Amino acid sequence: MQIMKAPAQKEITRAAKALINGDLVAFPTETVYGLGADATSADAVRRIYQAKNRPTDHPIIVHISSIKNLEKWAVHIPDYALRLAESFWPGPMTLILNRSDIAKDFITGGQNMVGIRIPSHSIAQALISEFESLGGLGIAAPSANRFGAVSPTNAKAVYEEIGDMLTSRDIILDGGNSSIGIESTIVDCTFKSPLVLRPGSITDEMIEDVTQYSLNKSSHHSKIKTSGLLKTHYAPNAKVVLGNHAEPGDGFIALSSVQTPTGAIRLAAPNDLIEYARDLYEALRSADRSNMRNVFIVVPDGVGLALAIKDRVEKASQE
Ligand code: TXA
Ligand code: MG
Repeated sequence: MQIMKAPAQKEITRAAKALINGDLVAFPTETVYGLGADATSADAVRRIYQAKNRPTDHPIIVHISSIKNLEKWAVHIPDYALRLAESFWPGPMTLILNRSDIAKDFITGGQNMVGIRIPSHSIAQALISEFESLGGLGIAAPSANRFGAVSPTNAKAVYEEIGDMLTSRDIILDGGNSSIGIESTIVDCTFKSPLVLRPGSITDEMIEDVTQYSLNKSSHHSKIKTSGLLKTHYAPNAKVVLGNHAEPGDGFIALSSVQTPTGAIRLAAPNDLIEYARDLYEALRSADRSNMRNVFIVVPDGVGLALAIKDRVEKASQE
């Protein structure tokens, strides 16, 4: 595969053409890196599943460049979903909506709804816009990691995760480190009121504020095939343990205000929640690069972004 560093328009155009040809393009977003394919091509999307070793009944988010294109993919969009779209797109949020005919089963995992996101990262924006101007309708992109593993937040991590599954025609666009560092907030908008399927940096409070709804606490979502809802996910090879009882040689992640246990190896010392989310996955990856057996993590308390961080760490700690 080709890795294109700090891609300019020329490289973006090549990458968009590769997508049109059915090849894969990994690209940066502000949350994590995605592994992209033409969302209307069954063959191209099949290659995503193969590269990730992902079960084929798991749906994939479709990335578009602007709200104007939303109605190509979704029907019966409730008003509150449009308010969310107008408030938080482009940005780290995915909306689950009733699908149109162009959202085929190989995108939705056979469900009647489709996940849509408009990312804000300039390279993602440029790639999707160029792809659309060449006739594309949307880029299907899960996080660019092997199924169940830690999402990549930079191009090197993409290469480590799936580099050996890419062909010489596939491309990795290198746009530096993702600024948010954990995956988008997923909001199911197919009920009367919004239901958060995966917490993220667009918080419950922000969603309630914009929609003027109390969040739906429905349990119907247990039937939805959302891999982020599986108990185990985002897991490094090292064993992740919650707490600060690390032994010498174990990895340790906590806010900078928390002291490192004697002999433990500090993998990240974020000063606040924003830095915590941004640095978490790379810290887990660094534990694996040095073959650590255990990583102890002290998760921050509280709501908002703290909840999203806790969600990821708890899933990483499940065996
Ligand atoms: O931040 C993100 O969302 C990143 C970037 C690349 O956009 N993408 C990402 O994709 O995290 P992925 O596939 O790793 O996680 C998306 C989650 C999956 O758990 C998937 O099952 C769920 O979204 N999802 C996608 N479409 C869905 C749908 N139609 N219904 C229910 N869940 C859906
Ligand atoms: Mg993922």
